[in-house]
Amino acid sequence: MEQQRYAAVITGGARGIGEAITRELARRYPVAIWDIDLDGAEKLAAELGDQGVQARAWKVDVADYDAVAAAVDEVVEHFGGLEVLINNAGITRDALFIRMKPADWELVLKINLTGAFNCSKAAARPMMKLRRGHIVNIASVVGLMGNVSQANYAASKAGMIGLTKSLARELARRNITANAVAPGFIATAMTELPEEVVQGWLERIPLGRAGTPEDVARVVDWLCSPGSAYITGQVINIDGGMVM
Ligand SMILES: NC(=O)c1ccc[n+]([C@@H]2O[C@H](COP(=O)([O-])OP(=O)(O)OC[C@H]3O[C@@H](n4cnc5c(N)ncnc54)[C@H](O)[C@@H]3O)[C@@H](O)[C@H]2O)c1
Repeated sequence: MEQQRYAAVITGGARGIGEAITRELARRYPVAIWDIDLDGAEKLAAELGDQGVQARAWKVDVADYDAVAAAVDEVVEHFGGLEVLINNAGITRDALFIRMKPADWELVLKINLTGAFNCSKAAARPMMKLRRGHIVNIASVVGLMGNVSQANYAASKAGMIGLTKSLARELARRNITANAVAPGFIATAMTELPEEVVQGWLERIPLGRAGTPEDVARVVDWLCSPGSAYITGQVINIDGGMVM
């Protein structure tokens, strides 16, 4: 018998990699699209709704713990439960370390890392109640190898990897898996960079192309499927072979 499915929350789910993950997971789960861009999230929810998917949009800033906790309650109320969380919302504020403003360090840490803490903390409770669940954190290869002008971003993504492994250890007994993916260079609004910077990245990718949001979404979907039931605490690079 098919198991009853409860909600998958995708943060930053309105566009880019988050949108692709939302579309992929929507084939398996009801989806709760969280974004600061409510318009974009609502459009996607309406489109998926027209395809017969249970989808709803929320305006949530992941950096605001009280807003996150309230949104988790609403998701549980609306869908009857919550079993998947994708911590995807993220930003960059690039600058050479020597010129990096403390405010830009704090903002990136607050959204990328504290945001993942906030959402995981609020979502863990309903997952523990269900006695099953999946958390997938969207980290980055930059969190593994560092990057010029991205000390704040790299630190936030390395932090997400430590968070993932700790969550995996603590939540395993409740049948909840926690994994991270580390995308390389994926073509989205975040990577609309000067031509020479893009070329520099492409030269480092053995598979010879930028990744697509769907390349990431398919792996994330698998990490929320029975095929990966015995995998937790791992970081999977999705980078065309850039880091190996
Ligand atoms: N694009 C890449 O090459 C790449 C590589 C590695 C990792 N990543 C990571 O993948 C994730 C998605 O990146 P993307 O390229 O799709 O970016 P994007 O900028 O296209 O999309 C990010 C989404 O997050 C939302 N968002 C931003 N701040 C938010 C907040 N405080 N609360 C809720 N939502 C918020 C935005 O409105 C947007 O919809 C990020 O965590 C990013 O660090 C991207």
